[in-house]
Amino acid sequence: MERKTSAELRQIPLAPINPIRVTERAQSLAAAVLMAGDIAIDGTAGKGRDTAFLAQAVGPTGHVHSFDIQPEAIASTDNLCTLAGLSSRVSLHHRSHAEIATVLPAGHRGKVGAAIFNLGYLPGGNPDIITQPQSTATALQAAFGALRSGGRLICVAYTGHPGGMDESDVVLAFAAERTSAGDAVEKIGHVPNPGKPWVLSVTKR
Ligand SMILES: C[S@@+](CC[C@H](N)C(=O)[O-])C[C@H]1O[C@@H](n2cnc3c(N)ncnc32)[C@H](O)[C@@H]1O
Repeated sequence: MERKTSAELRQIPLAPINPIRVTERAQSLAAAVLMAGDIAIDGTAGKGRDTAFLAQAVGPTGHVHSFDIQPEAIASTDNLCTLAGLSSRVSLHHRSHAEIATVLPAGHRGKVGAAIFNLGYLPGGNPDIITQPQSTATALQAAFGALRSGGRLICVAYTGHPGGMDESDVVLAFAAERTSAGDAVEKIGHVPNPGKPWVLSVTKR
């Protein structure tokens, strides 16, 4: 077979690189550290997919605390968990994730195996109701503080919508703080230019 020169190879259009499937990546990062009986946090319940995933992963002896400020998100999550037979393992909190520190029962603090934050707005919902940098910063600190050793915080940040870059910067600042503290930090798919979602994973020492 005739070999192509590198100049000829450069003419061949490359297949588009699939954008990382951020939500699946977030879930697999959580699954890799979760153990049966763990406590988990979903900081943004939305349609309930992450909550149901976490509830499955912690098993019947574990528990998930799921937060959202929108009643329709809480209702969707309730519906999904009921259909999946998982409701007894889930506490739904119609509260901001900025209140994690006060909402989490004392016996669950320091026992959280994974916390997922899928930032942004409810798919199919009101795009003006969106996670905000200040409350996100408070929530990331609180959720990280509740992790057990070896527990992992995962945050999907979106930079394509108005305000998304500011929130992404807050997530980056949190990542820098945890790196300095000696935790294992990965910034998956992070690029400096706006438009792309990326995933932060911080595993507690
Ligand atoms: C991208 S969606 C989450 C998707 C969800 N994890 C799922 O599996 O379907 C973002 C959610 O964050 C919620 N949200 C916005 N601000 C919030 C806050 N301060 N506290 C908790 N949830 C918030 C929105 O209402 C929206 O439902």
